Amino acid sequence: RTVAVILAGGTGQRFGARLPKQLLKVSGKPILEHTLAVFQASDVIDSILVMMNAEFIPEAEKIVGGGGFDKVTAVLPGGASRSETTIAALTAIGDPDCKLLLHDAVRPLVDQRILRDCVDALDRFDAVDVAIPSADTIIEVDSHDGDETITGIPDRARLRRGQTPQAFRPSVLADAYARAARDPGFTATDDCGVVRRYLPDVPIHVVNGSEHNMKVTHPIDIYLADRLFQLASHAAPEPRSPRELSEALEGRTVVVFGG
Ligand code: CTP
Repeated sequence: RTVAVILAGGTGQRFGARLPKQLLKVSGKPILEHTLAVFQASDVIDSILVMMNAEFIPEAEKIVGGGGFDKVTAVLPGGASRSETTIAALTAIGDPDCKLLLHDAVRPLVDQRILRDCVDALDRFDAVDVAIPSADTIIEVDSHDGDETITGIPDRARLRRGQTPQAFRPSVLADAYARAARDPGFTATDDCGVVRRYLPDVPIHVVNGSEHNMKVTHPIDIYLADRLFQLASHAAPEPRSPRELSEALEGRTVVVFGG
C-alpha cells in the first residue's frame, strides 16, 4: 500500500498573501487542487492524506469534495512547523509497513514519472529524495554585522537542489523523528534531512526531479507556474488528464526553450 501525504500546513510567510499560497489560484484552480490531481491520477498511489493549515480546513475539504478526489481519506490539521506536520501525518497513518510519500502542496507541477520512480525506489531503499542539478554555483556564507563573506564554494557537480516528494518506509522516518525529539537543538527544513542527521547510516536514494517541479514560494512563482500550466494547455486542444499534462510539459520544454 502506498500512502501520499500532501503537506499543506504552512501559512506562506515569504509569499505574504492573505491566503496560504496553496489556496491561491494558478491556471484557474487552487494550487492544492492541481497537486491533488497528480496524485489522484497516479497508478502507484493508493490513498492520500491532506495535512492542512488548521484555519483553512474547510477550504481544503471543499477542494477535495468538489474535485472527485476519492483517494483522499482525510483532511487533518498540520503542525506549527513542517516537521510537526510530518509527525502528525505519521501518527495518523499508523502503518509502519506502507510506502510513504510526503509532498509539498505548493509543488503542483510534479509529474507521474517522479511519483513512479519514488515508489519503485522504496523496494530497494528505506529513504528516497528527489533532486535536480543546480545551474547556479552555490556558495556558503557567514554573516557578521550584516556583511556576508564566502566561507566555501562546494563543487557544483556534486550539488543538487532538493525537491519533493520524499519517500520513506514509515518506521525509519518515525525512528529518525523519535531521535530528533531528544535533541534540544533540532531544526529541519525537510524530512530527508532528519533521517540524514539522526540515522546517518541509512542510505538515502536520489531520484532525478524536474525543473518544472518548482516550489511556489515568492509572488513571482505564481506567474512562472501559471505560464507552465498555460504551455501545457496550449499543447493540446482538449482538457487533459494530469498525466498527459505532465508529459506535455516535459515535451514542450524542448520547443519552448530550444526553439
Ligand atoms: N508546511 C506544512 N506545515 C507547516 C509548514 C509548512 O505542511 N507548519 C508545508 C507548506 O504548506 C508547503 C511545504 O510544507 O506545502 C513547503 O513549505 P514552505 O514552502 O516553506 O511553505 P510555508 O511554510 O507555507 O512558507 P513560508 O516558509 O514562506 O512561511
